[in-house]
Amino acid sequence: MKKALLIPVFFLFWCILILPLSATTVNDLRVEYMKNPIGTDMSQPRFSWKMESHERGVSQTAYRIIVSTDAAFKKKVWDSGEIASDQSVAIVYGGAALSPATRYFWKVQVKDHSSHKIVSTEKAFFETGLINSGWSNAQWIKPLQRDTINTVAMFRTTCTLNKKIRSARIYTSGLGIYEVYINGKRVGTTDEKGKTVYDEFKPGWTDYTHTVFYSTYDVKDLLSKGKNAFAATVAPGWWQGGVSHGKYGNPDLGFIAKLVVIYTDGSSEVVVTDPQTWKYSFDGAIRQGDIYNGEIYDARKESAWTSPNFDDSKWQACGINTDFKGIIKAFVGPTVQVRTQLQRVPMKITRYDGIMETDSDYGKINVKETYTQPAVISLPKGQTLVYDMGQNMTGWVKFKVKGAEGTEITMRFAEMLNDEGKKSRGDDGPGGSLYRINLRSAKAMLQYTLKGDAQGEEYHPSTTFFGFRYCDLTATGDIEIESLTGEVVGTASEEVGSFSTDHPDVNQLFSNIIWGQRSNFLSIPTDCPQRDERLGWMGDIQIFGRTASYNADLAAFFHKWTGDVRDSQRDDGAYPDVAPICWVGYGQAAWAEAGIIIPWTTYLMYADKGILEDNYPAMEKYMSFLAAQADDKYKYNGAGTNYGDWVSYVKTDSRYISVCYYAYSALLMEKISLALSSSKKDIYAQKAAYCRILYNNIKREFQTRYVDATGRLSQNTQTAYLLALKLDLFSSALARQRAINNLQILIMANDNKLNTGFVGTGTIMPTLSDVGLINVAYDLLLQRENPSWLYSVDQGATTVWERWNSYTKENGFHPDIGMNSFNHYAYGAVAEWMYRYVAGINPDENNPGFKHILLNPSPDFRKSFPEGQTQIKHADASYNSYYGTIKSAWKIEDNGDVRYDVTIPANTTATLTLILSGKQSEIFESELSAENSKGVVSVTVKDDKAIIKLASGNYSFRTSDRN
Ligand code: BGC
Repeated sequence: MKKALLIPVFFLFWCILILPLSATTVNDLRVEYMKNPIGTDMSQPRFSWKMESHERGVSQTAYRIIVSTDAAFKKKVWDSGEIASDQSVAIVYGGAALSPATRYFWKVQVKDHSSHKIVSTEKAFFETGLINSGWSNAQWIKPLQRDTINTVAMFRTTCTLNKKIRSARIYTSGLGIYEVYINGKRVGTTDEKGKTVYDEFKPGWTDYTHTVFYSTYDVKDLLSKGKNAFAATVAPGWWQGGVSHGKYGNPDLGFIAKLVVIYTDGSSEVVVTDPQTWKYSFDGAIRQGDIYNGEIYDARKESAWTSPNFDDSKWQACGINTDFKGIIKAFVGPTVQVRTQLQRVPMKITRYDGIMETDSDYGKINVKETYTQPAVISLPKGQTLVYDMGQNMTGWVKFKVKGAEGTEITMRFAEMLNDEGKKSRGDDGPGGSLYRINLRSAKAMLQYTLKGDAQGEEYHPSTTFFGFRYCDLTATGDIEIESLTGEVVGTASEEVGSFSTDHPDVNQLFSNIIWGQRSNFLSIPTDCPQRDERLGWMGDIQIFGRTASYNADLAAFFHKWTGDVRDSQRDDGAYPDVAPICWVGYGQAAWAEAGIIIPWTTYLMYADKGILEDNYPAMEKYMSFLAAQADDKYKYNGAGTNYGDWVSYVKTDSRYISVCYYAYSALLMEKISLALSSSKKDIYAQKAAYCRILYNNIKREFQTRYVDATGRLSQNTQTAYLLALKLDLFSSALARQRAINNLQILIMANDNKLNTGFVGTGTIMPTLSDVGLINVAYDLLLQRENPSWLYSVDQGATTVWERWNSYTKENGFHPDIGMNSFNHYAYGAVAEWMYRYVAGINPDENNPGFKHILLNPSPDFRKSFPEGQTQIKHADASYNSYYGTIKSAWKIEDNGDVRYDVTIPANTTATLTLILSGKQSEIFESELSAENSKGVVSVTVKDDKAIIKLASGNYSFRTSDRN
């Protein structure tokens, strides 16, 4: 009895003792912005961690990092010692040179503002790749001869491992997209929860004339003593398939691997690819695989070809692939995966039998039955099923089916259905059937031949992906479909942002933007996932990049992709239109500049100075390219004029856009140079000064070229005014004010609608807000007429479209079929405004990565509304930065008070700016006068704003009008 009492008392005492110490934790340890990365070749990887606390005013005053080759930290390779610093992002490794193929464990001890020491408890590690240890004579193998029909190659070898294995790693890469198997099992990575996660579409898309990535896998658990089999499939992918548009000539598929096995006695074994011991065959179940066209799979051809005892006597000896001339680099970053948490169950399935004639051109599908719940469906030969996933997405389907051996299933994919079967509405087939004409030449199909398994057979493709909401399915015999789901496939970057309001359509728009991103971040940032394009269009991502990095953690993704951009840069400095380069050209204004804008964005969001350093020489080269564009009349012409304000309703001269983007480049280069400068006179400071002069010169020439004495632009368009205002290209405050007035007039004259294309739309909302027209921005956000964001929401969009009116209920499909993608993220750039202006979550460029947060929530304070609009009374956003989650929510109460709930993560500070309704406003925090609240460092009221300096913590502010 006594004992039982003693324990709780002791426990309480213990808690009291430790609580003040343990209120703060240190977690989310990352290396190179990744959790426990395997296979890095960086000689000086960078570390980061987060402090987490519910208390206010928590900060770091010092850190100490310890890196060791053992989990018990006995074999230390680096002890940073206590470093007085508040930095916890991108701390550079400073220990002895790292060895290849080695796992390093690390921990960090943080000293907080009250000198408490907190040690991280996560099991954190990183593992080096091959570094300089090389490939031990591993060779790129290839099929010695091509198959005339089948396009997916299989490679295999066996070897005997004769001792007990302590550890094993396999390093692999492919020319074409590849998959690796050991002893019949697919190679993947075991996650923290013990689940195996598979990477799809390895090695990802790079500029293969320069770079291909290798991946590293821990394969100890797949190996056994005795005979082991190593196998791989390689499909055309981005290397040889249609999507490469012949960029790499007509190269052969290739595969390279190095397996290193360490036995328990310390000895080791190395197995590598070579033409002597590896064999190939094209006679597998995956007959054809192409990103644009789809996959042909014959389940009758399945065999145990990845197992040790498979008879490969009919397979051929490999050749050596010499097509790749670049460098094989280690890949560290988010991989492409099936994103299981996003899996879609069909919302509706329609079974139809032939076409009913109507008064339309194509008629309508003859519906036999519809299913709104998952069901086992019997599909007789000759009938068709149409699946509606309820969401436009990127990936593939996974199904389980029963039927006779040799029965052939055909599936086709599409983003939309034909509505009335009328040519005049742009339909390409009967009402209710798949609209596929916008896929252009992409076949986007699956063909599956059944092996006739009485238990049913399961399948999903692996060599292709589709942009689709709908798919149809027919079979050459009667079949039973037990299940069919939509699997979302894309780069698995962690989603870190959220935004919602009390306006359901705005929330739907936000969801469309998120799905646009999920659909178009697949190894590289693409324009669209469905037609014969799917390229890394630079213009699209420079417009959407900021939004994208609020939605998801793109630190490592952009690090990789800016490498592709550099690889693809032309010798004269012109950045490509798409990266990796293929098919199109170079040096087009507002596209090429992604080479500068994306590194700058990444620096702002993740405090990644490294990305600026890595890209700086290429940026300078691009600036020289721009300088060379002078002609007899004008010195500052900017880049090429091919794309202008792409797909706008009103044309802005594309040369005008080029000149503006030249000014933009100069401005950013000034900022980037200053960010890299460490003293007032160093080389970067000098370069920054030069960029300022350049910018002033461009501005001067811009004025003589485009501005008249009254401040009117010769280009009287919304986009023209927006760019000039954003880039501060007017000569005086008066001219600027006139331009603001003109811009407002242009929008009003257009019935409160925008008419901008990609470039103007990427600029409009932040610029309107910056020039004092945030009310106009709110009007535009809630506009429902064409063109507007909610217009496509009203037309049923579940992703952002290439055009505002790619489809309208009134008129059907847009007649310019070739540019009628239903999954193009560029116009989704409005979410940047939602995060940065509506919720007001901004990094401070003088202290980036959200170390200091500029929190400027801007509630919908409109007093009058365009017809049909009402006030947004509530918005709620969050962003999980590298310091922790920032929250900003506001609510306009019925009595006019405004409540602001904000969270400032530990080890950060914020400047919160609140808009006051009158000079008499009072500001409360947790119902106390704000000045007296813990964590509130200062409150300064100036004009109609309260500027509040905050330490970390959760706060609840209320502004109230005294009258
Ligand atoms: C793409 C766009 C791209 C444009 C360049 C289109 O085909 O889909 O998103 O930026 O070409 O003009």
